Amino acid sequence: MTLVDKIVKLKRDKKAVVLAHNYQRPEIQDIADYVGDSIELSRKAMEEKEAEMIAFSAVDFMAESAAILNPDKKVLLPTLGARCPMAQMLTVDEIKRWKVLHPLVPVVLYVNTLASAKAYCDICCTSANAVEVIESLNAETVLFGPDRNLAEYVQRKTGKTIIPIPEWGFCPTHLLFQPEDVQILKMQYSDAVVMVHPECSFEMQKAADFIGSTSQMCRHARESNAKTFIVATEEGLLHRLRKQNPEKQFILAYEDAVCPNMKLNTLEKLYMALKEEKYVVTVPESIAKKARKALEKMFEITNKS
Ligand code: 13P
Ligand code: SF4
Repeated sequence: MTLVDKIVKLKRDKKAVVLAHNYQRPEIQDIADYVGDSIELSRKAMEEKEAEMIAFSAVDFMAESAAILNPDKKVLLPTLGARCPMAQMLTVDEIKRWKVLHPLVPVVLYVNTLASAKAYCDICCTSANAVEVIESLNAETVLFGPDRNLAEYVQRKTGKTIIPIPEWGFCPTHLLFQPEDVQILKMQYSDAVVMVHPECSFEMQKAADFIGSTSQMCRHARESNAKTFIVATEEGLLHRLRKQNPEKQFILAYEDAVCPNMKLNTLEKLYMALKEEKYVVTVPESIAKKARKALEKMFEITNKS
């Protein structure tokens, strides 16, 4: 039996569903039941009524959200140390500090945060719905964390005052992209459409023809008549883009744009996770209760549209 066969058998025997983020290794994407961006995967996690177990091939905060939304299911993260460094940048103490300075201002947190931080916010958002969430609030000023680039993007789109918390939060992988690299690629591929994730710098966003979450990029590539795309997000997305659009060409805007944490997950680790039912992600109910409210509010807003 191959490793893939063993994983398929374990999935069936244990009534497990495998969710994989768009940045996972190709072989994991190919074996997953669902591949998507953070909002799609959180939704899938909620909809999986039949499954008894969710193996979440991604990083800590995504598995935590699945555990919060599915308190009755066993949620597994194949690699114990797969952590999003940006999520670590916003502590509960920092949120409390900003809340003291702006007691009447709502707190919106990107899902790339730890559950303990989510418990202190009014509503969550992802890169796919951040603008929609902020627009839904009856407030002209919003505390927003932890990604400063996304905060500034939302401020430009909504015209509201967005205060980034902390002031410097960032994704190390998305900061690798530089507009100079795009300019050079554009000389070679003059007709290419430039797709940029909102975690990239403002300068990169200025160079974009399209800004969106990973799955929004997939949709855009599918619907566009263009044949060539320069892509500024983690390299894992190119597998999905190429698989869904074999006739189109996708070029990574910076060839070493890798999220090392996302890539910690391997087929072997996924197999061991399902076999030994590890590593179980749990969130204490006192925290989960508050974080769930913030996630559910986000779904209410985005379900309406
Ligand atoms: P998406 O929601 O666009 O998939 O982004 C998640 C993420 O971690 C981006 O770095
Ligand atoms: Fe976190 Fe950036 Fe990796 Fe996404 S790509 S998981 S934001 S470090």
